[in-house]
Amino acid sequence: MEKKSLHDVNVSGKRVFIRVDYNVPMDKEGNITNDARIKATLPTLEYLLSNNAAVVIGSHLGRPKGQPVPEFSLAPVAKRLAALLGREVKFAPDCIGPEVMKIAQSLQPGQVLMLENLRYYKEEEKNDSKFSSELAALADIAVNDAFGVSHRAHASVEGITKFIPAVAGLLMEKEINFLGKAVTNPTRPFVAIIGGAKVSDKIGVIDNLISKVDTLIIGGGMANTFIAAQGYKTGKSLVEGDKLDLARELIAKAKAKGTNLMLPTDVVIADKFAADAQNKVVKLDAIEEEWMALDIGPETSIAYAAALADAKTVVWNGPMGVFEMDAFAKGTEAVAKAVAASSAVSIVGGGDSIAALEKTGLSAQISHISTGGGASLEYLEGKVLPGIAALTDRELAHK
Ligand code: 3PG
Repeated sequence: MEKKSLHDVNVSGKRVFIRVDYNVPMDKEGNITNDARIKATLPTLEYLLSNNAAVVIGSHLGRPKGQPVPEFSLAPVAKRLAALLGREVKFAPDCIGPEVMKIAQSLQPGQVLMLENLRYYKEEEKNDSKFSSELAALADIAVNDAFGVSHRAHASVEGITKFIPAVAGLLMEKEINFLGKAVTNPTRPFVAIIGGAKVSDKIGVIDNLISKVDTLIIGGGMANTFIAAQGYKTGKSLVEGDKLDLARELIAKAKAKGTNLMLPTDVVIADKFAADAQNKVVKLDAIEEEWMALDIGPETSIAYAAALADAKTVVWNGPMGVFEMDAFAKGTEAVAKAVAASSAVSIVGGGDSIAALEKTGLSAQISHISTGGGASLEYLEGKVLPGIAALTDRELAHK
């Protein structure tokens, strides 16, 4: 069932509560180091403001565990948002209570109020009904633009929808359109690239995608478990010993489904886990006892790039190696270049792959960079995300 979006409701003269995911990275001094999640919500905010709505913004930041923790205050985020929007953003010192209600009620169309961190209350993560109703009382309509937290059944994401009409924001709509089309009706060939340290983090995604994609490319630390599962010696490489059978099952499943599962054929090994480690390229049967694989090798990179060249849909989540260290970044860079160069609809998710793309300066050539980390993974696993499921259904007559 399709969900209602901003275009299905009249927001003029209304007070709108918009849930965003401004859980942005900050340095030790509290400076925002990446504002992509704030920028991604600007179209929705601008739409609301130009359509005469008064806007109340709610978000979480970090995991303050249900109490006010100053380092998780959203005040610096409100400041950055004001600069990006080019207009005043009022900041409430709390997210519920009489004082916040007073500020919200005095808000005029075209004005913006940002609430303090929703997770300062344990009721947020508990999806507490009273807390949800207090948030709902601040507005006439709820808009969910927080794709990144829509896998959490929290009060401001799920609970609030029981009290006021709730629709998808423009960012949410975009995320669902890109990821949804990829998993349900992709233009083929459909190639998925899954990397990162551990197989255990991505089992669900690999398992779901194996029967949907034409080619599944595996890289990163998790590839070592697949290499070990094929019987090769992996030295001191990161291998999940309890996942070897699972890796074999996934290899067999790919074969049974006719999916082209691509695993490394060569790797870059190092004598220690360090940027200045000695390193060399070896075939899988030459991984030395005291060494560890930290990147895919050049032969593998070429094969992966060739598989991506004629792809029409690409989903990428997770780096191919320890890309933070230059000596082990080449595999991830090669994949980033190949994804950027292909004419495919490309969707990239996960903090590390996005950081790798930014490092290579290729972000602009990607069709969609998802704002969801855990949420995009759960979506790719085929799970129903509670924050999306709770939005108002679009009646058939409106289709
Ligand atoms: C994220 O960064 O993935 C989201 O903001 C969700 O954060 P959480 O994992 O703390 O719920």
